[in-house]
Amino acid sequence: MKAHDLQMAFRRSGFVKHFFYYPSIDSTNAKARELALRGAEEGTLVIADAQTAGRGRNERTWYSPPGLGLYVSFILRPGTPAEAAFGILMAVALGAAGAVTKLRPTGSVGIKWPNDLMLEGRKLGGLLSEVGMSHGAVDWAVVGVGLNVNHQASDFPAEIRDRATSLRISAHREIDRVALLQDLVERAGTWYGEYLERGMVPLLPEWRRRSVILGRMVRVETAGETYVGIADGIQDDGALRVRLESGTIETLHAGDVQLVQMR
Ligand code: BTN
Repeated sequence: MKAHDLQMAFRRSGFVKHFFYYPSIDSTNAKARELALRGAEEGTLVIADAQTAGRGRNERTWYSPPGLGLYVSFILRPGTPAEAAFGILMAVALGAAGAVTKLRPTGSVGIKWPNDLMLEGRKLGGLLSEVGMSHGAVDWAVVGVGLNVNHQASDFPAEIRDRATSLRISAHREIDRVALLQDLVERAGTWYGEYLERGMVPLLPEWRRRSVILGRMVRVETAGETYVGIADGIQDDGALRVRLESGTIETLHAGDVQLVQMR
């Protein structure tokens, strides 16, 4: 990935105002957060070819070797109500899912609530968002996207090899990462524009359509509890409703979801 190619790709972008490119950095989210706190403008991107301390959810690391994946963080300044903050991540996730779908991988591109991109039952990518609130509104948001693009199975560490996939594995060809990034950013920008104008509502049908868990038996681990039940619905605020065996409905705002195989 070369800075010049990115410059060309974003030259006419309706969304990108500035971008920072690093051949290697600790974490694009950490850098984007630092820039956001220093007042960086909406439409600023932080992009890296490799990360030495890529962050995943729940203190996990995101495997980020050079030359193979996409690692990008968006800086946004939505000013939307705190209750609608989840829509920011949804907008970027839908942009990523749309761009990936256009490359026609085998199988459909799904979203595993709240932040995983899935292909053929394996993890293709993930999103990580951080927000800064002020007076009940989202002052700044950083949404990071990590995508496995040109990895072959042997490129993944053994611990994740049977749970991870890449676009190359699924589409059986090498993918142009800059073109993919360009498409992803423009699509995310369009969804985000919808969100700014009309809130989360216009994003929900596509979000639900892409869900790989709705109607399925899931195990959700939250900070304090584990719930097992049917993923019954996604509320208008993005929360997941799980119907437990007892019939009780739990509304969950965060957690790690696993699909439970039914016999
Ligand atoms: C997850 O699935 O746990 C979320 C992974 C998010 C990884 C991306 S890579 C670009 C950005 N920078 C980071 O340090 N993390 C996100």
